[in-house]
Amino acid sequence: MVDLKGQYNDIKTTVNASIEEVLENTAYINGPKVHEFQKNLEAYLGVKHVIPCANGTDALQIAMMGLGLKPGDEVITADFTFAATVEVIALLQLTPVLVDVNPDDFNINIDAIKKAITPKTKAIVPVHLFGQCANMDAIMELAKAHNLYVIEDNAQAIGASYKSKNGQIFKAGTMGDVGATSFFPSKNLGCYGDGGAIFTNNDDLAHTIRGIVNHGMYERYHHDVVGVNSRLDSIQAAVLDAKLPKLDVYNKARQDAAKKYDEALKNIDAVVLPFRNQHGHVFHQYTLRIKSGNRDALVKHLNNNGIPCGVYYPIPLHKQKAYADEKRYNETDFIVTNQLVQEVISLPMHTELDDEQIAHITSTIINFLNE
Ligand SMILES: Cc1ncc(COP(=O)(O)O)c(C=O)c1O
Repeated sequence: MVDLKGQYNDIKTTVNASIEEVLENTAYINGPKVHEFQKNLEAYLGVKHVIPCANGTDALQIAMMGLGLKPGDEVITADFTFAATVEVIALLQLTPVLVDVNPDDFNINIDAIKKAITPKTKAIVPVHLFGQCANMDAIMELAKAHNLYVIEDNAQAIGASYKSKNGQIFKAGTMGDVGATSFFPSKNLGCYGDGGAIFTNNDDLAHTIRGIVNHGMYERYHHDVVGVNSRLDSIQAAVLDAKLPKLDVYNKARQDAAKKYDEALKNIDAVVLPFRNQHGHVFHQYTLRIKSGNRDALVKHLNNNGIPCGVYYPIPLHKQKAYADEKRYNETDFIVTNQLVQEVISLPMHTELDDEQIAHITSTIINFLNE
């Protein structure tokens, strides 16, 4: 699905030099590289504060802790996302409220959010799925009207942009009260292990979060709040700082590959191509819908032909044992997600895809679907 070796070969000298700096100065924890990367990412995103941490799951959890959400508070998020989003809500003993998504961009559905808001609702967590922003204009309006926090799960959309209805352009993850991202190796900006970060424009929240990531300390050995130990290590920061200047080039390579996939598959009746809203989609995944009922057979066929593919996600979160809640959920509230889990297939998507690979993948799909 990804070609991390091909990408590394291309940037080896820069990445190795950056890692070597850390090895030479031995500042492995919270060293200068972490600070440099933080500053460079703040400038890239146009956000006041980036707080690096250990992974994207921690980033979400710490964001919720920083906002002071309390057990019993209801947090609305999408039924169609990776489990990390809902996991941290449950871990903090908040009440997850899963809602349906849109059939086109796969992002959280605004009417479903409206229906789910109660006096106990405290936050909305839009997930910018597969590299494309959710409808942030509508989400921010709803949040304002109901006095809710917005926590953007930006694990899959770093570098994506969003054009708001007043024409202003924002980077994904910088529009809500707080954004959380992951630097997992296969992400659009990935390190060589685990990594994550929290973004906010709110000075007080940034201060609170900086303490939470470091055992709740604002002054050495004074633990004012319950915190965690969640650090981006200096070697990972060195990798990320070397790769950040290439993020836009990487995202453009993904967009170009997506266009080529589109071109090859656009006339196939059974295929629904990825929808792009008017904003910048950075194609963390290139995800098709297969309408002919043979998605699983296609997955098998591709695998038999040595072509990797993924089904993100095969089970709606409201049907996962850990998050099922028969009293709260009604199957009729999840018409779209229940259908998507049967139809979606994600094709190989990375910065090193070449025309020959795309032609091979698409012709294998077309031959199968036309059989
Ligand atoms: C939507 C979403 N949220 C959160 C995460 C968690 O990130 P991490 O794996 O860095 O903990 C991921 C990563 O896979 C993700 O895709």
